Amino acid sequence: MKKTYEIAVIPGDGTGPEVVAEGLKILESVATLYDFACHITSYDIGGEHYLASGETISDELLESLKTKDAIFLGAIGHPDVKPGILEKGILLKTRFALDQYINLRPVKLYEGVYTPIKDKLPEHIDFVVVRENTEGLYAGAGGFLKRGTADEVAIQESINTRSGVERCIRYAFEFCKTRNQSHKLTLCGKTNVLTYAFDLWERTFYEVAEEYPDIEADYAHVDALCMWLIKNPEWFDVIVTDNMFGDIITDLGAMIQGGMGIAAGANINPAGVSMFEPIGGSAPKYTGQQKINPIAAILAVQLMLDTIGEKKAALSVEAGVAQVLKNDIQDVAAGQMGYSTREIGDRVIDYIKKQDRR
Ligand code: IPM
Ligand code: MN
Repeated sequence: MKKTYEIAVIPGDGTGPEVVAEGLKILESVATLYDFACHITSYDIGGEHYLASGETISDELLESLKTKDAIFLGAIGHPDVKPGILEKGILLKTRFALDQYINLRPVKLYEGVYTPIKDKLPEHIDFVVVRENTEGLYAGAGGFLKRGTADEVAIQESINTRSGVERCIRYAFEFCKTRNQSHKLTLCGKTNVLTYAFDLWERTFYEVAEEYPDIEADYAHVDALCMWLIKNPEWFDVIVTDNMFGDIITDLGAMIQGGMGIAAGANINPAGVSMFEPIGGSAPKYTGQQKINPIAAILAVQLMLDTIGEKKAALSVEAGVAQVLKNDIQDVAAGQMGYSTREIGDRVIDYIKKQDRR
């Protein structure tokens, strides 16, 4: 019997549904070629749903997501909803409720893609950021005192637990082992100023590192790392960091790999249900115009296939994407591709079908 995966799909807002449609097209075609099946359940949540119902994501829906094999998310974000409501109410809530404690973001420059960094080639830009995804400044700890007065106090605390930090660091070492690279893991922190949080991170990092003698354990302060990601991206193989620094350096990473149109991320619970997304946002002004690049969503599908164990299908999707980027897409930016969203999806499928599968 064929293996059937239960996939939850959240197309979401703006251009989310358009790019999700292309991702699903690719998923269906590799399922046929690699002999597995996907049963899709679509969920109507996002800004539109919130404006109509006042609800972000219900507990029932979260429970239902927990029964799936994976979640594919398009984009959440609506111009008429105050910032913070959907981010916290949907995206962060799901990450936390499903304990997706790893945010994995590959940063890879594909052939044919323009990087704003002069003289850097695909062999120079190929690293992965492992971002802690459930703690740090994102935990929501803190509060106001005397809000709105001249004496107002606002406190936002970074929560770092030994177990939370350790499981993230262990994941990063294990992940680094699987990569065919320099086997170097860089801890990105700020041990010179954040002397509590990153003291814990640093101690844990070097303790765990002793179990991995074949991996070079390296450290960089976050500010210096920003500098080096531009000047010497080839120095990096895998980077592990906390939630906030990870958020920041992965946007930098998305730009040096060519732009948001091709940047994907995975929210992973290694023992549970993971969620895969293009990281670019809902781009409301392009809604329905077929101008957005679906490659980020297609690479999110690739990360999903890789995570659920369909490794061959994942490689096949990546190879199809690499060809479309090399041969067809003029510019990865919205409206500059030379093709519509749908046409890009079709081309990826054409390349996948032409691959040698012996
Ligand atoms: C990301 C996004 C989210 C984050 C926002 C939308 C809450 O920027 O996935 O990086 O900060 O984690
Ligand atoms: Mn971000």
